[in-house]
Amino acid sequence: MDENGLFEVLKRYGQYHLIEHYRGLEEKKKEEFIKNIEKLDLELVFKLYNHFSTPESDKPRKYSNIKNSNIIGLHKTAEELRMKHLAKKRGEELIRQGKVAVLIVAGGQGSRLGFDYPKGMFPISPVKEKPLFQLFAEQIRAMEIKYQRRIPLLIMTSEENHKTTVEFFESVDFYNLDRENVFFFEQNMLPSITPKGRLIRSSDTSLYVNPDGHGGSLKALYGSGLLSRLLSLGYEELFYCQVDNPLVKIADPVFIGYHMMHNAEVSTKVVRKRSPEEKVGLYLNVDGKDRIIEYSDLEEEYNDARDEKGDILYWAGNTAIHIFSLEFIMDLNKNGFALPYHCARKKIEYPLRKNLIRTIDIWKFETFVFDAIPLAKRTCCMEVKREEEFSPVKNKEGLDSPITAKKDMINLYRSWFEKAGIFIPEHVPVEISPLFAFEEEDFMEKIMDFSKEEIEDMIGQGIIYLG
Ligand code: UTP
Repeated sequence: MDENGLFEVLKRYGQYHLIEHYRGLEEKKKEEFIKNIEKLDLELVFKLYNHFSTPESDKPRKYSNIKNSNIIGLHKTAEELRMKHLAKKRGEELIRQGKVAVLIVAGGQGSRLGFDYPKGMFPISPVKEKPLFQLFAEQIRAMEIKYQRRIPLLIMTSEENHKTTVEFFESVDFYNLDRENVFFFEQNMLPSITPKGRLIRSSDTSLYVNPDGHGGSLKALYGSGLLSRLLSLGYEELFYCQVDNPLVKIADPVFIGYHMMHNAEVSTKVVRKRSPEEKVGLYLNVDGKDRIIEYSDLEEEYNDARDEKGDILYWAGNTAIHIFSLEFIMDLNKNGFALPYHCARKKIEYPLRKNLIRTIDIWKFETFVFDAIPLAKRTCCMEVKREEEFSPVKNKEGLDSPITAKKDMINLYRSWFEKAGIFIPEHVPVEISPLFAFEEEDFMEKIMDFSKEEIEDMIGQGIIYLG
C-alpha cells in the first residue's frame, strides 16, 4: 500500500484523525504506520462495528427449547467399560497410523493471571515447577515413544507473545521433541474501536489491537497454510486444548476413539459444574443442535435449575478440550470464516496525551472456538472427572489459580499411588513426570517394579518426584 492507498482506506472508514496524525510523522515512521495498517482487516472491523451498532445486536440472545445433550457418561458398568476399552484401542490405532496432531492455543493476554510472560511459561508443577509448556511437551514425547509415531505439536501464539514463545522453546531445545514437528503460528489481531467508531493508536505507528479470540485458531490454521500441510501429510484429526490446563490429557486415545466411533466433526469433553454460580459455559442441546452457551448468555433459571434428585440439572461444563476433524476446519474456512464474531465492550486506561490518562470505552471483536459445534453435522461429547482432567490456571489467587492447580496435580498423583496401595501423607508433595507415566495404567505397571524399601525411602525424603 502507498500513501494514497492509505488515505483512501482511512477516508472510506471516516478515520480522518489518523490521516492527520500520519501527516505529522517523519518519513521512517510513515512507512511503519502504513505497514502496520496494511496487515489489519479493517473491512471486517467496520462490518462488525456496523453490525454491533444496531440496537438489536445489544439484546441478549434468547434461547428456547433447551435440554441436556446426549453425553457419554463416566464409565461404570461392564458394558461402559468395554466401550471405553474399544474406544481406547481405536484412538491408539489412529495415533499409531499418524493421523492425529495436537493444537495448543496460547495466544491470549492472560490478564487475570498477571504473569509477564506467555502463560505457557508459567511454572506450575508441584515439585519441579515445570512450566505448562513442558508438561504438554513431555506428554507428547511420552506418547511418541509409546506409539512409535511422531505427533505434530502446533502452538498458536499472538503478535504479543510469538517471539518470546518461540525463543523459549529454542532455549529448552524443544523439550526433546523433534523441532521440525513443532509449529508456531500467530493468530490474527483486530483493531479495537470506540463506540463512536474511532480507531485508536497504541503508539505513533500502530493501532490499538486485540487478539481475535480462541476461535481465531481455526482461521489462522487455515490462513497460515498449516491446515493444508497437515492434510497433505495424511493427518485427519486435531486434538485441541488451551494452554492453561495442566491436567489435560493430550491426545487422549479414549476421546479420539469415541470421536471416531461417532464419526464426529467436533468432540468435546465436559465436567460436572461445581455450583450453580460457577462461571463456565454449558454444553446443551438447543433446538436440536448441540452447542456451548456461555454462563453470561444463559438466563438464571437454567443456571439454577435442579433435577428431581436436587442435583444441578444443566451440569455439563465446558473444559475447552476438543477434537476437530481437519476437513471440517477446512469447510469452516472455504467460503469466508464461518464462526460468528462477538463484541466485548470494555473499559481501558488510555493515554489521550502525554501525562493524561483517561478511562475510555472500547469494543473488541473475537470468535469463540466452541461456536464451531453447532456448525458440525455430527458431534460427540463425553464427561470426564474434573479432578483428573481439568484445573485451569486463570486467576492470580483463589479459585482456578496456580495454588488450586498444584493442589489438584498433587491429589491426582497421590490417587494413583493410592490405587497401587501406597498411602502418601498429606504433607508430602508428589509429582509424576509424563515421561515416567502419562496415564494411570502406565503408572501401575511401573510402580510395581519398586520395592517396599524404595517406596518407604521415597516417602521418607518428604518429597516425591518420579521422572
Ligand atoms: P481465556 O479466555 O482464559 O483468556 O483464554 P486468557 O487470555 O488466557 O486470560 P484472560 O481472560 O486475559 O485473563 C483461554 C485460552 O484461549 C487462549 C488462551 O491462551 C488460553 O489458552 N486464547 C484466548 C487465545 O489463544 N487467543 C485469544 O485471543 C484468546
